[in-house]
This record gives sequence, structure tokens and C-alpha cells, in this order.
Amino acid sequence: MNVRSARENEIDQLAGIWYDGWRDAHKQILPEELARDRTLLSFKARLREALAHVRVAGPPEQPAGFSILKDDELYQLYVSKPARGAGVAAALVADAEALLVERGVETAWLACAIGNDRAARFYEKCGWRRVGNRISVLQTAKGPFPLEVWRYEKILARRA
Ligand SMILES: CC(C)(COP(=O)(O)OP(=O)(O)OC[C@H]1O[C@@H](n2cnc3c(N)ncnc32)[C@H](O)[C@@H]1OP(=O)(O)O)[C@@H](O)C(=O)NCCC(=O)NCCS
Repeated sequence: MNVRSARENEIDQLAGIWYDGWRDAHKQILPEELARDRTLLSFKARLREALAHVRVAGPPEQPAGFSILKDDELYQLYVSKPARGAGVAAALVADAEALLVERGVETAWLACAIGNDRAARFYEKCGWRRVGNRISVLQTAKGPFPLEVWRYEKILARRA
């Protein structure tokens, strides 16, 4: 599975994957207030802002999933429903890890919603370890939204 940089003309499709995946994974387990904030338009705006850091799996204009990196964090990971269970997510994580190593990151981290068991199982399969709960401060249209999350880490390299 080819993983590459996102193109501007894919923002609408990527926002659709993000919106649908957010609802699949989070609607049952996160506060309603947060679900109301996570609109298709909000995802389009966030993708536009982060475009240089968005990595996509799949042929041009047929994205199957994407990741977003932010400093030493695997910040977002979403795979379209039909592409789940087929190795697309693993290819995106391998690509993200390789980019983080190139940047000199030794220990990468990510936040996973408490109760997102499929994602947790997936990260553990990829060698990430849950190190505890943390408070993540999410940005919403109404301001910062503190949320307790599972923090995962993976050691990518050891100091020489
Ligand atoms: C998280 C995500 C990227 C993982 O990709 P994927 O293709 O679904 O991952 P895989 O199918 O390889 O692995 C998922 C594992 O969870 C298991 N699983 C499926 N449903 C599950 C559930 N409800 N509870 C626990 N495990 C579950 C699968 O059987 C599989 O494990 P196995 O390979 O040992 O059988 C993808 O599911 C997704 O985009 N989800 C919606 C968005 C999301 O949650 N993103 C992560 C935010 S932190």
C-alpha cells in the first residue's frame, strides 16, 4: 500500500473519512458536546491547516486512509470503513514511524479515546504500549475541551 503526501484536491474525501471514522469510533464513548463540534466542515478546516503533515494511503483521489503527525505525536489515524482490516492502517503507522525516526524522535506518543477498543487493539498489535491516562486539551469552536485519554507510546530508537 502506497503512502504519500496528501493533495489539496483530496481534502473533501479525507474529511469524509475523518467524519465517518470519528462517529464510528467516538460517538458512543465521548461527550455529546464534542460530537456536536466535530462537523464535516471542522474536519475540512483542520485538514487544510495541517495539509503539509497529512500522509495518505491509496492512489491519488482514492484515499483509503490518512495519518497526521504533530511534532513527536501520531496525532490522527483514520481508515475508511471498507479499507479496515486490510493492512492499510499498518502501512500508515509504519510510514508515520519512519518519518518520526527521520526527525530524530526516540519515543513517539499518541492519545486514544478511552474505550476505543478497536484502535487500542490495533496500536498494541503494532508494538505501541499504553502507559496510562492523561488529560488531552482538545480544541473546539467553543474553546479548549479537556478530555481524559489513554496515552500510548512506542520507543522508535535508543539514544546512542
Ligand atoms: C483504528 C483503525 C485505524 C485501525 O485500523 P484497522 O484496519 O481497523 O485495524 P486492524 O483491523 O488491523 O486491527 C484492529 C484489531 O482490533 C480488533 N477489533 C475489531 N473490533 C474490535 C472491538 N470492538 N474491540 C476490540 N478489538 C476489536 C480486530 O479484530 C483487529 O485485531 P486482530 O488483527 O487481532 O484480529 C481503524 O479501525 C479506524 O480508522 N477506526 C476509526 C477511527 C479511529 O478509531 N482512529 C483512531 C483514533 S485514536
